[in-house]
Amino acid sequence: MNAARELCIVAGARPNFMKIAPVIRALRTRDAEGLGWRLVHTGQHYDHGMSGVFFDELGIPPPDVSFSAGGGTHAEQTGRVMVLMEQVLLERRPAAVLVVGDVNSTLAAAITAKKLGIPVAHVEAGLRSRDWAMPEEVNRVATDAISDHLFATEPSGAANLLAEGKAPDSVHFVGHVMIDNLLFQLEQLERLDASGWASTRYKQEQSRYGVVTLHRPSNVDDPATLAALFGALREVAEDLPLVFPVHPRTRRGLEALGLPPSPSITLTDPMAYMDFLNLWKDARLVLTDSGGLQEETTALGVPCLTLRENTERPVTVNEGSNTLVGTHPGTIVREARRALSGHGKRGQRPDLWDGQAAERIVSILARRLVSI
Ligand code: UD1
Repeated sequence: MNAARELCIVAGARPNFMKIAPVIRALRTRDAEGLGWRLVHTGQHYDHGMSGVFFDELGIPPPDVSFSAGGGTHAEQTGRVMVLMEQVLLERRPAAVLVVGDVNSTLAAAITAKKLGIPVAHVEAGLRSRDWAMPEEVNRVATDAISDHLFATEPSGAANLLAEGKAPDSVHFVGHVMIDNLLFQLEQLERLDASGWASTRYKQEQSRYGVVTLHRPSNVDDPATLAALFGALREVAEDLPLVFPVHPRTRRGLEALGLPPSPSITLTDPMAYMDFLNLWKDARLVLTDSGGLQEETTALGVPCLTLRENTERPVTVNEGSNTLVGTHPGTIVREARRALSGHGKRGQRPDLWDGQAAERIVSILARRLVSI
C-alpha cells in the first residue's frame, strides 16, 4: 500500500479500543477505495485486563507497531509516545494520523504528526468540560487546536469547535463510534454462551443490582475524597447491592485506605468488555465518573448517576439517562434513592447515535485523503 494513502490509527488506553474497532471495520469494507491503514498501540495501558482482552473481544487486529509507553508521570508518558511516534511517522509518512478520545496518547500522537506536517483527524472532537483540572480537558483542547479533520459525537462538540474558530468544512457531526461498537457488540452478545461469565453468576444471585466505576484522579487520588465516596456507596448498597470493577489507579487508593469490606459491595478486577456489558445493561442504576459509560448508558436508556461536578458530554444529561450528581455523599445517596423509587431517567438516544458513525468518518476521510 502506498503510504501516501495510508491512515495511521493510534490507540493507547482502554477507552480508545472500543472507538477504533468500528473505524477499522469500516476501513476494511472500503479497501477498494484506496485508503489503507496501519495500527499503532502506544502501550499506555498494558495489563491484559486493560488492553489485550479488548483487542481479542472487539475483533481488533494485532497492532502493526506496539510501544511500551505506559506508566510514569504525564510528561514521561506523553514524551515517550512522542519520541516513538516520530520514528514511525518518519518511516511511513502516512496521509493522516487518526487519534480518538482524550488520553495522553491522543495528544502525544497528534502533536508529533502535526509537527511533521502530517494532517491529524480527531474522532470525538469538541467535547469540553471547562474544567482545567482534568488532564483530559487539556488533551482535548490541545488536540482539537491542531487537528485538521474534526469528528464530533454530539451537537455541542461541533458548536464548541466552531466557536473556537475551526473552519466549518473541517468540523463534522457524525455521531459516535463508541455507540457503533456498543450496538455491534450487543448483537454479538446475544449469540454468545455467557453461562460461565462472572456477570451471569452475579445476575443469578442478585435480581436487582447497581454497577459502579470510579477512576478519575480527582475522585480516587485523594484519600479523604475516596473515603467519602466509598461511604456514600455503602449507604446506597443498603438499598441496592453494588458491583464495582476496580481500575488499577482506584485499587491502589482503596488499598491505601484499608477500608473494611462491605458485604453488599462486590469489588472485582477490571472486566472485559462483554462481561461488563452483560452486567451494566441490566443494572437498575449505574454510578460512575467515566465519560464513556455516561454515553453508553444513555444509548441503552439505563439510569446513570455521574459522580462529577461537570460533564463534557451534555447530550447525555439533556437528552439521555444521565444525571450529574457531583461528589457530595449526601447528594449521591439522595439521588440514588430517587432513581430507585422509580424516578430514574430513561431519556432517549441522541441524534446519529445509530451505529453508522465510523462509516461516515471513513467516507469523509476517503474523499479528502485519497484525492490528495
Ligand atoms: C487513562 C486516561 C483517562 C481514561 C482512563 C481509562 C489520561 C490522562 N487518562 O487514565 O482519560 O479515562 O485511562 O482507564 O490519559 N495501570 C496499570 N495497568 C494498566 C494501565 C494503568 O497498572 O494497564 C496503572 C499504572 O500504575 C498507571 C496508572 O494505572 O500509572 C494510571 O494509568 P494512566 O494510563 O496513567 O491513567 P489512567 O488513570 O488509566
